[in-house]
Amino acid sequence: MKPTISLLSRQKALTLLTTLLILIESLGKVASSLTLAPLTDQLINKNFNGVVFWLLSTITIWGVTLTIGYVNSVLKAQIIRKVTNQLRTDIADGLSTVSIPEYKKVNHNEYVSWLTNDVNMIEQNGLDAFFSLLGNVTTLLFAVTSLAFYHYSLALAAIILGLLTMTIPQFFSKIMTRETNRLATANSSFLGKADDIIGGFSVFFSHNLGNAFTHKLAVASDQQGKEKVLYTKNVGLVNLLISGVNVTAQMLVLALTCLLVVGGYFTVGVISSSGSLAGTVFNNLAGMIQGIFQMKSVTVLLHKDTSSKEPAPSLEDDSFKNALTVDHLSFNYGEKPVIKDISYRFEKGGKYAILGKSGTGKSTLINLMSGRLTNYSGSIHVDDLELNSLPASTLNAKIELVDQKSYIFNESVQENITLGKSNASNTLNKIVEFLGINTFTSLSTNIHEHGSNLSGGQRQKLALARALSFRKPILIVDEVTAGIDDESAQAIEDALLAEKDLTVIMITHHLTPKTKAQLTGTLELA
Ligand SMILES: Nc1ncnc2c1ncn2[C@@H]1O[C@H](COP(=O)(O)OP(=O)(O)O)[C@@H](O)[C@H]1O
Ligand SMILES: [Mg+2]
Repeated sequence: MKPTISLLSRQKALTLLTTLLILIESLGKVASSLTLAPLTDQLINKNFNGVVFWLLSTITIWGVTLTIGYVNSVLKAQIIRKVTNQLRTDIADGLSTVSIPEYKKVNHNEYVSWLTNDVNMIEQNGLDAFFSLLGNVTTLLFAVTSLAFYHYSLALAAIILGLLTMTIPQFFSKIMTRETNRLATANSSFLGKADDIIGGFSVFFSHNLGNAFTHKLAVASDQQGKEKVLYTKNVGLVNLLISGVNVTAQMLVLALTCLLVVGGYFTVGVISSSGSLAGTVFNNLAGMIQGIFQMKSVTVLLHKDTSSKEPAPSLEDDSFKNALTVDHLSFNYGEKPVIKDISYRFEKGGKYAILGKSGTGKSTLINLMSGRLTNYSGSIHVDDLELNSLPASTLNAKIELVDQKSYIFNESVQENITLGKSNASNTLNKIVEFLGINTFTSLSTNIHEHGSNLSGGQRQKLALARALSFRKPILIVDEVTAGIDDESAQAIEDALLAEKDLTVIMITHHLTPKTKAQLTGTLELA
């Protein structure tokens, strides 16, 4: 319950107003039960005016109560909107400070699932449940008080039976937690599979495997369905038991009322009110128990911690004075050695090519130099700073890496280049013109499906434009001219090599004599 309350404490005014209205709504519900006794009595006495009066009163009370309920639901939606925004911002905030290797420890669908499924779960089992619980508790209190108003023994019976009812679900708390986790896992697993299968659509299609595509989705869907059925079976059993006890308790209160009527303690009409109030007591009690369970399950989900151990630095140091050096650098993927004792010095402002057949570790080397892979032996220095000891944000300020598959967002071209960072428009236009992006698109064009309708070369040009617009001192590119025609590729290489202050390290498969002549040095991997 604590996490939900701390979430709500950031919305004090709205929460207080809603609480007040819930209180009035509860009063209304109980008052509508209380009018049943005089209504029944007037009916027994065949007093027409009296019956009409109490009928109208009941209708009026219900009208007011329902209207307040409506206002409440809108207020709740507003609160949930604000809290949900806050939750998602918190998750993003936490993520925004972790390093890329740390980020990659978790599959990206898992993060998407935090933002969707988990937030929905918190909305339903945390926030919705909290307000329902509040309504249950206040209604319950008013109903028990009203029973006491007829006869103390009715209230006493309700309290004793209520306490008995409440002890039962405690035996099932483990099952309920397990089932909540089952549902979350099933949802997130389906999301991951669906994303994977849909993402591979063109692979299935190009192999004439439309059937397999459909079949895989159907299997994934049914796996999720199976888990949901299990969830419903188990949670349903617990609820069935609770309902059984609940109905029995209501019957006992009704029986006691009958005895009191026979004993002459009050009029027959009270049977209607008492029955209705007993229903209110035990239904709200059941709701209350369910609400407490729901809210307990939320703590499980809120415990996921996205924040990094490393505090966000206030200043990003983008200085680069002398050289980027690797010294006796080695790296293994598991058991497999990929980088074997490499030493090299990349001077500031120099232009370098990393050469080698495919699979010789070129991409691995630049991933190491840009901090995307860690756990190497030997050293990598930017000036006199060892990479391992640099905060990720500092490294990111100094080194820009354009890899072979740059991620393209479904946003405008401009947004893809600047990532929302403000950029002088003439600089931006220059880059766009220089890379020839203006020949196939404009800055305001929206990109769809992560750029799959652009050619590989066009996507790489966008990625390069992004890299250049951030103007970091060291630019590392991984075969970015691979998908581009020879003439454009040469033009891009020429342009990169002409940037006087920029330190350029490029992996290239195909080194033209013209490019070779402009290089400061080459590093050949074998
Ligand atoms: N994430 C990884 N896990 C395990 N092995 C990998 C991984 N990435 C690359 N490798 C292996 O490391 C070797 C070097 O890969 P890579 O650096 O991509 O080579 P290059 O860029 O020179 O083609 C290859 O044999 C490749 O199979
Ligand atoms: Mg490679």
